[in-house]
Amino acid sequence: MQQPAVLELANLRKTIKGKEIVKGVNLTLNPSQIFGFLGPNGAGKTTTIRMIVGLIKPTEGSVTICGYSVAHNFVKALSNVGCIIESPDMYKYLTGMENLLQLAAMDKKISKQRINDVVEMVGLQHRVNDKVDTYSLGMRQRLGIAQAIMARPKLLILDEPTNGLDPAGMTEFRKLIRKLAYEDGMAVFVSSHLLLEIQQMCDVVSIIKQGSVITTTLVQDILHDDKIEWQLNDPEKAITLLREHWNIVAVRLKNDTISADIGQHSLDKLNEFLIREGIALTYCSTKQHTLEDLFLDLTVGDEIV
Ligand SMILES: Nc1ncnc2c1ncn2[C@@H]1O[C@H](COP(=O)(O)OP(=O)(O)OP(=O)(O)O)[C@@H](O)[C@H]1O
Ligand SMILES: [Mg+2]
Repeated sequence: MQQPAVLELANLRKTIKGKEIVKGVNLTLNPSQIFGFLGPNGAGKTTTIRMIVGLIKPTEGSVTICGYSVAHNFVKALSNVGCIIESPDMYKYLTGMENLLQLAAMDKKISKQRINDVVEMVGLQHRVNDKVDTYSLGMRQRLGIAQAIMARPKLLILDEPTNGLDPAGMTEFRKLIRKLAYEDGMAVFVSSHLLLEIQQMCDVVSIIKQGSVITTTLVQDILHDDKIEWQLNDPEKAITLLREHWNIVAVRLKNDTISADIGQHSLDKLNEFLIREGIALTYCSTKQHTLEDLFLDLTVGDEIV
């Protein structure tokens, strides 16, 4: 029998005080997938996550976690989830270790060894016996992640997880997330308004804008999409040649510059061809598409509403 998806959202909607904040979100998350939920401030990311973990009820639609409906089988559904929403919950007057022990006491399956392992995984071993109110923001984030992964959830949900982490902390965090996904099989749902973070960390990204998912794509597909710019003496002839011989659609950018996606074609071969056909090339450059290009294309002109 086929395993159910780790997370399935079907037509998820939320209206608060007459305002539709989440407008029919659909998505499926499988084991070992790192999913990025990317959108500007106020797009509806946290509201969606609150519905996933049952903090608020959807106005319409459903959330299913490992085959269990959050609305009808809350305890079973949520037993598969570790999460941090906005900022991690912890007792500030206890030490990091005491916080972890407190949580572990509620779940008999968590051994002392497992606690020590997660402390090491998040790099808190030197400070875990200090009180949380002496921690920096980044240390609290790390402790939050330790809390969230301690029970080996199948689904890890992190709302803006790298807030407060320094660059070294971010790099370590990315490594940790990859390990959890690719070695331990966790599905990871990360929300962020930071493009680079999602680009560097995730396999799949959905872009949410004003409550609607406007695109879902493999991050790898965006990064492999190369755009070439040529500066040459006869742009119109080059455009025609590229279309007729290679089925490549080029556009004219400036008087002497054209641009095209060349897909799987070899740039060397194209350049040889253009020169052979009598085109004089002055300059040629490769521009890799980034998530930022896509995001800006899709969200241009938007303001927070
Ligand atoms: N309880 C509420 N009452 C009224 N409006 C709300 C409520 N909760 C959320 N909103 C509104 O819903 C919209 C989406 O909020 P949400 O917190 O989901 O955004 P977000 O994508 O997480 O943004 P950010 O990147 O700033 O965290 C915002 O316009 C917000 O003001
Ligand atoms: Mg938010």
